[in-house]
Amino acid sequence: MTNPKHTDKLQHLNELKEKAKLGGGEKRIEEQHKKGKLTARERLVVLLDRNSFEEIDILVEHRSHDFGLEKQKILGDGVVTGTGTIDGRLVFVFSQDFTVFGGSLSETHAEKICKIMDMAMKVGAPVIGLNDSGGARIQEGVVSLGGYADIFLRNTLASGVIPQISAVMGPCAGGAVYSPAITDFTFMVKNTSYMFVTGPNVVKTVTHENVSFEDLGGAITHATKSGVAHFACEDEIVCLQSIRKLVSFLPSNNMDEPPVMKPKDDPNRIEEKLNSIVPENPNKPYDMKDAIRLIVDDGDFFEVHELFAQNIIVGFARLGGKSIGIVANQPSALAGVLDIDSSVKGARFVRFCDAFKIPLVVFEDVPGFLPGTDQEWRGIIKHGAKLLYAFCEATVPKVTVITRKAYGGAYDVMNSKHIRGDFNYAWPTAEIAVMGPQGAVEIIFKKEIEKAEDKQKALAEKIEEYRIKFANPYIAAARGYLDDIIEPSETRPKLIRSLQILETKVDGNPKKKHGNIPL
Ligand code: HXC
Repeated sequence: MTNPKHTDKLQHLNELKEKAKLGGGEKRIEEQHKKGKLTARERLVVLLDRNSFEEIDILVEHRSHDFGLEKQKILGDGVVTGTGTIDGRLVFVFSQDFTVFGGSLSETHAEKICKIMDMAMKVGAPVIGLNDSGGARIQEGVVSLGGYADIFLRNTLASGVIPQISAVMGPCAGGAVYSPAITDFTFMVKNTSYMFVTGPNVVKTVTHENVSFEDLGGAITHATKSGVAHFACEDEIVCLQSIRKLVSFLPSNNMDEPPVMKPKDDPNRIEEKLNSIVPENPNKPYDMKDAIRLIVDDGDFFEVHELFAQNIIVGFARLGGKSIGIVANQPSALAGVLDIDSSVKGARFVRFCDAFKIPLVVFEDVPGFLPGTDQEWRGIIKHGAKLLYAFCEATVPKVTVITRKAYGGAYDVMNSKHIRGDFNYAWPTAEIAVMGPQGAVEIIFKKEIEKAEDKQKALAEKIEEYRIKFANPYIAAARGYLDDIIEPSETRPKLIRSLQILETKVDGNPKKKHGNIPL
């Protein structure tokens, strides 16, 4: 029984906590709902396992004495922080509360975020940040800017140690955007979230452009044009559920193994449909995602960056119950060519998987790098080198399946044997050469074709000759650049066995402070 002397104290504590949970009050909560947004606490209920949230720092208040702020103190100071579980696994969370000073970041707000980040690093668990903020707390000036920098530093130090996931669920402007940008994955919500360095008003003053919030920095803009967002979700619930799904593929930290799901799907499943997925005409596209879904466990492929640089596909799946990262060329988008955006997209994903011990499986059908002044002037050389560098550097198990084209430098780049691919396979439909038959013949037989009476016939004959000689996988197999040429239908069991063999793989890179990836 409670000592009656303590009743008042308990009541006081309960009242404080209840007040804190109301954030900026009923009216502002209503406004938040009217905008189609959940509150900071409602979001955590959807994100975390039922009743798993353990809050810390609910009683924190700001320390500002300027502009009348000393009279407006709201417990928690605009951010809800703590721990919870997703599928029973520990995660650290912060959720900014727009109803409190517009979720703006004060000194104490930043300290709360830093506290859970520090703890997450010590414990080795992911940090998930739900951002909904007007940016730096204007009344606090440089102290608030310092708070952001404290977070950026921690984001950077935690990179590659614990997974960091950001959801932008409201405004995210100015320097504030750089925390999500450093984290591993950024989710946005269509129509209710936006990110930009400077908003539409500043843009109008400086560049005289008229642009809406949504067009400048909405979810679709960042998921399609800039690539800043990896996911553009229909609504907040979908966003929070997608974060849960993403977490299910990831280890808790860089020393941990990714979680294993008991597979329902038969590891020895032979998939006859794969034998006819590549069209006879080598210039005809097909959807590589169809092949991926036929191969992975239960056809479940969780695509990352689905709307950006669609000529390369990246995402997570499972084989034999274990997480894999897939990187695949997409013949049905720009013929699967490698350009600046697809190289950068692929490189970042490869480095994430390598940092977190997630094996890489590559499906390759690539006609080469995209030619043209636009690409050259914008630096396809250095950006393409990112993907090359990332695959070279990666020491996780790496398996490649060449389904059709592997031409030119792109052959080397896409996890070839030469850059430490562990198992390299090809389907019999593979074509591996310096360049495609037409281009090659026009260069090496230029004079002969010019001299021929029937130029078209001579060209066609030479193309056929080249195709028979080079546009196949057998020369690469004869040299051991491929470990085997396999029937497409047996790809799933072959990959599962290969990854089993590689489970105890040990490989490393020379000791150094860090490499110098071409940025
Ligand atoms: C203090 C803020 C605030 C801020 C909003 N509020 N932003 N308080 N500092 N940065 C307060 C408002 O005064 C208001 O309080 C409440 O939050 C809700 O704001 P509204 O303007 O009524 O909401 P809305 O119309 O939805 O507009 C949201 C908004 C707008 C677009 C975010 O508030 C806005 O433009 N805020 C300023 C954004 C900004 O410029 N931030 C600095 C960016 S630079 P009341 O009491 O009236 O409800 C930056 C640098 C970071 O962040 C640098 C890191 C290196």
